[in-house]
Amino acid sequence: MLKIAIIGVGTVGASVANILKDNKDIITSRAGVEIVPTIGVVNDLSKKRDVSIELTDDLDKALNDDSIDIIVELMGGVERPYEIIKRALSKGKPVVTANKALLAYHRYDLEKLAGDIPFEYEAAVAGGIPIINALRDGLSANNIESIRGILNGTCNYMLTRMINDGIDYESILKEAQELGYAEADPTFDVGGFDAAHKLLILASIAYDVDAKPEDILIEGIQNIDTPDIDFANEFNYSIKLLAIAKRVGKQIELRVHPVFIPKTEMIAKVDGVMNGISVIGDKVGETMYYGPGAGGNATASAVIANIVDIARRGKGAPMLGFEFDYKANLTIMPKDEIET
Ligand code: NAP
Ligand code: HSE
Repeated sequence: MLKIAIIGVGTVGASVANILKDNKDIITSRAGVEIVPTIGVVNDLSKKRDVSIELTDDLDKALNDDSIDIIVELMGGVERPYEIIKRALSKGKPVVTANKALLAYHRYDLEKLAGDIPFEYEAAVAGGIPIINALRDGLSANNIESIRGILNGTCNYMLTRMINDGIDYESILKEAQELGYAEADPTFDVGGFDAAHKLLILASIAYDVDAKPEDILIEGIQNIDTPDIDFANEFNYSIKLLAIAKRVGKQIELRVHPVFIPKTEMIAKVDGVMNGISVIGDKVGETMYYGPGAGGNATASAVIANIVDIARRGKGAPMLGFEFDYKANLTIMPKDEIET
């Protein structure tokens, strides 16, 4: 059994606990060990939550519990989680986080402190899309020429609804908040800062550059107005908040801003809460990634992927050819029964 503490049982933390319960058999089989959400830390114990995990508002109880194997930080913020993760790593505990704001400022420090201790953050960029894995492993043979992505689900959801359904900015922002897509402070979303945090994480992996949000060009979607929406509709354009990292000679250009894109382009068709990322490698050419960029289950899916990976490494199990003993009791559908 591998015990985890979830620091922050909100939209994402509650989904992590619930998925570990709902998909226990398949996850246990893939991890090679049962993963048990043992304790959850929250701010306000009186809030009603749909989750079956012991809750506490005493952070030390979770951090000082020697029986906890992995700390999962899902509380948000920057300096508080930075201290918590440092404490966990200095005790030798693996850490998983989805906190891109923290990583945009402290990833290099924390990676250094972690050393050989697993410190993983797949969910921090593009929710359920395994883009960090793709950049680190799948494209490792390439010099990355550019990354061009829709990295904020809230903005993409808002822009899609504003253009397609004519809904006003304030109502649609409220809807994105109710759906659990927006940050606790939605200025991070609409101001372009969240997309910038994610871009900096991807750029640091692709180019090994340690830039801070203050160093790059960031423009959000707050100034998009009725004439922009009318123009997009009249000329068959989408408006997307794009985050771009591009190699230009010996420099890396980093920027986030809204862009008019002809609807014929693939990235213009990425609508709603979906994220879409184009990565061009010098050898592979252009690769595209698409999937849900925000929301509890999509994000928790990536958090749990990191936990499963750590569990496998802990067991010393190989990444491929691990024993797959989950019995799904599925059979192949006969080909003459497939509807075409
Ligand atoms: P959330 O719904 O606001 O949940 C935050 C949780 O942390 C809540 O349970 C809150 O307690 C707890 N918390 C906050 N401050 C605390 C403190 N000082 N001490 C103890 N507990 C504290 O946030 P979320 O949407 O799940 O996001 C969590 C993290 O994941 C953030 O870093 C966010 O950027 C990242 N993320 C979110 C998404 C998404 O789609 N939502 C996607 C990718 C990454 P209470 O419940 O008592 O208030
Ligand atoms: N607020 C973020 C977004 C959550 O809307 O993309 C996912 O990182």
